[in-house]
Amino acid sequence: MQTLQTTSLKITDNQLWILDQQALPQQKNWLSAGNTDALVGHIHALRVRGAPLIGLSASLLLALQAEQGMSRDDLQDSLLTLRAARPTAVNLMNNLDRMQEALAAEDYVTALVREALRLVDEDRQLCDNIALAGTPLITAGSRILTHCNTGGLATAGVGTALGVITRGWQQGKVAHVWVGETRPLLQGGRLTAWELSESGIPCQLITDSMAAALMADRQVDAIWVGADRIAANGDVANKIGTYSLAVLARYHEIPFYVAAPHTTLDRHCPSGKDIPIEQRAAGEVTGVAGSFGAVQWAPENIRVHNPAFDVTPAALISGWVLDTGLITPEQVAEGIFRPQTN
Ligand code: MRU
Repeated sequence: MQTLQTTSLKITDNQLWILDQQALPQQKNWLSAGNTDALVGHIHALRVRGAPLIGLSASLLLALQAEQGMSRDDLQDSLLTLRAARPTAVNLMNNLDRMQEALAAEDYVTALVREALRLVDEDRQLCDNIALAGTPLITAGSRILTHCNTGGLATAGVGTALGVITRGWQQGKVAHVWVGETRPLLQGGRLTAWELSESGIPCQLITDSMAAALMADRQVDAIWVGADRIAANGDVANKIGTYSLAVLARYHEIPFYVAAPHTTLDRHCPSGKDIPIEQRAAGEVTGVAGSFGAVQWAPENIRVHNPAFDVTPAALISGWVLDTGLITPEQVAEGIFRPQTN
């Protein structure tokens, strides 16, 4: 396959490599994702993470496996294993539905390679279109709060919410970004803080528990987050802690925007209650793990609740900024995300 490089994925010498998002920003380690088990392991460990990136990495691996001569039956098994790697972000399932169709083609090798590369190209374009739709909503001098990581690391392009923020800053409209650290795995504190710093965008890191006081102090003008799945009624699953920010935003009368590609939309999922929420290991909450050894601060054997995502009800969202443009609460109430029957 042709060589390819995004911020956190690359293909060289017909091999898939991923930038280890657990080691960032201290170490920039490219790890091989040479087979299904290796990639699933990286996805479980969040070395590969972010809704769009998970789907793209799985699609690229399937294309490479096809080129390497894997049989159609084995490709089918690989696809099903990859599809089950993480349950919440629907981009994985949506991308693999397209790969499934390619696998049915007579010349499935060519079809799978073409489809995987098309998905990567499309994702870049989707990010650009989201940024185009989102930046007009940013008012001059904005101080924006964001959560988790939705940048180039999580996509093939400029990112979703972070793409809007970056383009808004390039247009001179973003004065400052508040970066929520995003407990327990610190995607904000490690990844968003790194991406913004690399781009020279003025930002400050806060713990998640500081957001309310900042808003009360009138230091946040808007909140922009990404999404892992948008249900047909507009409810949004995103990184745990997103819902708290939406509640706070409503109380403090701050606009709360969700930015995502249409590949994050699940028209067949009626509401947020139907979105499967991934539960993760206790060790992520009882201490820190990562690439630097584990440090536990909680008592041994403490019981832990560790959902990776929460659901923000549509009623708390000011706008859904998709690659197709801004979707308003009125349009969502009228059913724009529901399956079209004719
Ligand atoms: O568990 P993660 O790090 O994969 O969660 C990521 C998020 O919740 C992002 O906000 C979402 O996937 C959008 S990334 C463009």
